[in-house]
Amino acid sequence: MIHAPAIPPAQLRLSVAPMMDWTDSHCRVFHRLLAPHARLYTEMVHANAVIHGDRERLLAMDPVEHPVALQLGGSEPELLAQAARIGADTGFDEINLNCGCPSDRVQAGRFGACLMREPTLVAASVAAMVEACCSEAGDVPVTVKCRLGVDDDHDYDRFCAFIDEVADAGCRMFVVHARNAWLQGLSPKENREVPPLRYDWAYRLKRERPDLQVIVNGGINDANEATTHLGHVDGAMLGRAAYHDPYLLHRLDAQWFGGVQRPRAELLRALRPYVEAQLERGVFLKHITRHLLGLFANQRGGRAFRQVLSEGAHKPGADWGLVERALAVTESFQSDVAPASP
Ligand SMILES: Cc1cc2nc3c(=O)[nH]c(=O)nc-3n(C[C@H](O)[C@H](O)[C@H](O)COP(=O)(O)O)c2cc1C
Repeated sequence: MIHAPAIPPAQLRLSVAPMMDWTDSHCRVFHRLLAPHARLYTEMVHANAVIHGDRERLLAMDPVEHPVALQLGGSEPELLAQAARIGADTGFDEINLNCGCPSDRVQAGRFGACLMREPTLVAASVAAMVEACCSEAGDVPVTVKCRLGVDDDHDYDRFCAFIDEVADAGCRMFVVHARNAWLQGLSPKENREVPPLRYDWAYRLKRERPDLQVIVNGGINDANEATTHLGHVDGAMLGRAAYHDPYLLHRLDAQWFGGVQRPRAELLRALRPYVEAQLERGVFLKHITRHLLGLFANQRGGRAFRQVLSEGAHKPGADWGLVERALAVTESFQSDVAPASP
């Protein structure tokens, strides 16, 4: 049995969750700037789309994004293996299999969270992907993002049996979204809020399987909570909090990796060369600025920042000048108070 290589522990501590429609390449470049040590994830892409679709668009990735993982959806081992190989050849640092998405579309395709009920199929998929990701140039790790169970199945032993079977197939790293997925009656959004969180299951898994790399995900909203998890597992993955308040990523990166905290405006201005290069390629400003709106979340002027960007970014000819105007308006709100945080 071939095993996927272990990921260097420092690369596991902080990661940003895969989020459809949100964590595209522009978003990841921005997050990379804020958090030089974070592990980044793409949106989920179905294996079929990778094989037959517009790869240039679906697998778009900027070199600054590394380390970055491609998340795949699917449940056919051969297709997943083919897609994983394409992802590895494209330069992704990890191929992650989605076993946590509860949407109807995903259930109809028999992948995502319903795979929690099919450990043997997941194991076969992982084994095929691991084999496909071995090459003389170096092996690319294959990992799994999963839930604790589905519906009202709250059985730690069954969860652990799922992990064991998949680990035996060659997966060493698991991202545990620490709640069940309810496949009937809850929307994907409710499925991220309603089923109760059980971080203790992820902690116990790490205690009982210390050779596995375990990342905990779900409901981590601030720096203190994230830091607490590091005492129990290998890393914390943040989704919505990172997207809506991206400066949190910067604070965590500086705290955990000994960096200097830089002011928001300075970080944003470092994005200018990227934005201008994208505009020159014909990308619309709004496709980038939509990911920046939360940069001043909970700060004076944060609302004005959002407003200037949202109202101006879709207008023809919108360019970096709009971002400078948003910053100027925001700074005018802040100039009458001593800066509380950078
Ligand atoms: C808009 C959105 C899209 C998401 N898309 C994916 C996805 O493509 N793949 C996946 O594994 N999880 C997806 N998720 C779930 C997140 O990765 C994460 O598990 C979940 O939001 C819980 O973490 P949080 O509480 O830190 O947000 C998505 C979440 C959101 C909010």
